Amino acid sequence: MDKILTGISGLDEMLNGGIPKRRHVAVFGGPGCGKTSFSFEYLYHGAKDGQAGLYLTLEESPEDIIENMKEQFSDFKDIDSLIDKKMLFVEQPANYSVDAIMESLEKRIVENEVQRAVIDSSTMLKAMFEKESEYRRTIVEMFNLIKKLDCTVMVLVEADSSEKEKVIFNIEHYVLDGIFNIYNLDKGDRRIRALEIFKMRGTDHSRDLVPFKVTPSGIKIYTNEKVF
Ligand SMILES: Nc1ncnc2c1ncn2[C@@H]1O[C@H](COP(=O)(O)OP(=O)(O)O)[C@@H](O)[C@H]1O
Ligand SMILES: [Mg+2]
Repeated sequence: MDKILTGISGLDEMLNGGIPKRRHVAVFGGPGCGKTSFSFEYLYHGAKDGQAGLYLTLEESPEDIIENMKEQFSDFKDIDSLIDKKMLFVEQPANYSVDAIMESLEKRIVENEVQRAVIDSSTMLKAMFEKESEYRRTIVEMFNLIKKLDCTVMVLVEADSSEKEKVIFNIEHYVLDGIFNIYNLDKGDRRIRALEIFKMRGTDHSRDLVPFKVTPSGIKIYTNEKVF
């Protein structure tokens, strides 16, 4: 099976070589856990490697995302130049609907051969629905459409809690091919960032909960360390 390297230090090793191509994954985490950083780095390494990437934001403005990521990853000096070269796109869909999201994705896939995409976030879509059942129907429909795309998509999902024990299974857990859970664990007087690959159809993978840091030169996952 073809795999797509994330380029994130330690992660490809945990995935036995990367995310299976065209399998779509969710990144779950509470606010501030690092979802944007994690998924942006996935696009960044792809863009450096000749695979164009699209970050579709429904929440923060594209300008804010770019500014934050340049600050967060200050060693990545070529973010602007990758954007200028049309290898990296940070955009908002025309509105908060599945149609608008799919239109934006398809446009970039056709026009710019985008091979990696991020949708930030499915939770934002949820806010558009009064009924939970309608949201479920819509999200399932969106994931079914995404499955047909020749692009490996990461969908960010806002968890209600950053505590490991309090995470509730959402519809996204069932529908997507792969799940990364990221946590901001409470360790007495400090918090530790941790990650686990909860599931990944199509490949064997590590099931360890491992600590990680966000550094100026990228996320570092400490694959041999334990959180507890
Ligand atoms: N310049 C920076 N250097 C290091 N850490 C930062 C920097 N800017 C923000 N952070 C940390 O990253 C967190 C936000 O990460 P982000 O990827 O945006 O999370 P999420 O998308 O899950 O909300 C902040 O809460 C903060 O702890
Ligand atoms: Mg974010």
